[in-house]
Amino acid sequence: MGTTIQTLEHNLDIAEIRRQFPVLNQQVNDKPLVYLDNAATTQKPLAVIDALKNYYQKDNANIHRGIHTLAERATADFEKTRDAVKTFIGAEYREEIIFTKGTTEGINLVAQTWGRANLKEGDEILLSAMEHHSNMVPWQMIAHEKKALIKIIPINDAGELLMDEYEQLLNSRTKLVAVVHASNALGTINPIKQIVQLAHRHGAVVLIDGAQSTSHLDIAVSDWSADFFVFSGHKVYGPTGVGVLYGKRALLEAMPPYQGGGEMIGEVRYDGFTWNELPYKFEAGTPNIADVIALKAALDFIDVLGKQNIRSYENSLLQYAYSKLEHLEGLRFIGTAKEKVSIQSFVFNDIHHQDLGIILDKEGIAIRTGHHCTQPLMGRLAITGTSRASFAVYNTIEEIDRLEAGLKKAIKLFR
Ligand code: ALA
Repeated sequence: MGTTIQTLEHNLDIAEIRRQFPVLNQQVNDKPLVYLDNAATTQKPLAVIDALKNYYQKDNANIHRGIHTLAERATADFEKTRDAVKTFIGAEYREEIIFTKGTTEGINLVAQTWGRANLKEGDEILLSAMEHHSNMVPWQMIAHEKKALIKIIPINDAGELLMDEYEQLLNSRTKLVAVVHASNALGTINPIKQIVQLAHRHGAVVLIDGAQSTSHLDIAVSDWSADFFVFSGHKVYGPTGVGVLYGKRALLEAMPPYQGGGEMIGEVRYDGFTWNELPYKFEAGTPNIADVIALKAALDFIDVLGKQNIRSYENSLLQYAYSKLEHLEGLRFIGTAKEKVSIQSFVFNDIHHQDLGIILDKEGIAIRTGHHCTQPLMGRLAITGTSRASFAVYNTIEEIDRLEAGLKKAIKLFR
């Protein structure tokens, strides 16, 4: 499982990148912070923080309503992010980009609009065994209401989808396949293009949860022919409270609106209303203007570094982490798929993950412990939770050495 890499070859100036993230430069419990909880949320570069500050200091106004200068500036910047997202995820039309609170809201929107309008008794929804609760519960809710069935695409012990079994599960009753692009608990990258192709052969619609993939991998919704794709700003170096739902134009046109209120209306009478055109039809109420504007700064940050450079550097970090941790007595890796993003879960038989998290925090090291909002997956793997280190472009091999040292300390304490 990987060889030792003493120096990582890459095209990035990591010291310069780290300077853009002031939060990294601090002591936690009297030790320099090692932040390895990037799958939960990434830190924010100065460009994002400055975009937020700039908006509130100079441009704050409601959008799409005012004719004054501030309103026009705010509206123009808000809509610039829509164009940036369109390019970033390879969509065809800007009308296909809907701003949401985040991945979870995007999935709930599709379940409650497309799902309510299209699912009926006996229809089948396919989810994978590694889905986050956010890509499971919204479907369970609408399936219960519509008496539809949920079927689970199984995985092997490495955490890879069993594609033959997936193919066998597809049939004329399959109306929707909802699958994560990269697993938050295992790091597995799923073969999205193939998943979409197979589903479409049976006339099923496909939703892809891109929460964990969008900061690491090339996203090409149009090329994949994905029907829906969702991601969150805060996991791509952007602000919390903003996310994106991509939907194919024809599907979005045919769906009823999600919430009622300002922005989504065409005309309102005492006895009814008409709704606005895309994308505003799905953006009721004053949106999260500041965070949408700052999201563009996050996407620009990624674009300047280059996804390929980021992926290759993070992959080296992951390989380095394997090489350092695999020798630790009693450590078992969870999630050993061939294709992975830079997320590594592990367990010790005799050290509870929560205890480990507390000991590492004393060393200034932040990891996530627990079931990672994937309780059914933990059940499938016969564990209650894991410790998870997740790497971003600003992490270093020295930080992985600190993780190794922290784990050695924990092992000594417990044995
Ligand atoms: N879904 C996020 C995680 O995996 C919060 O940590």
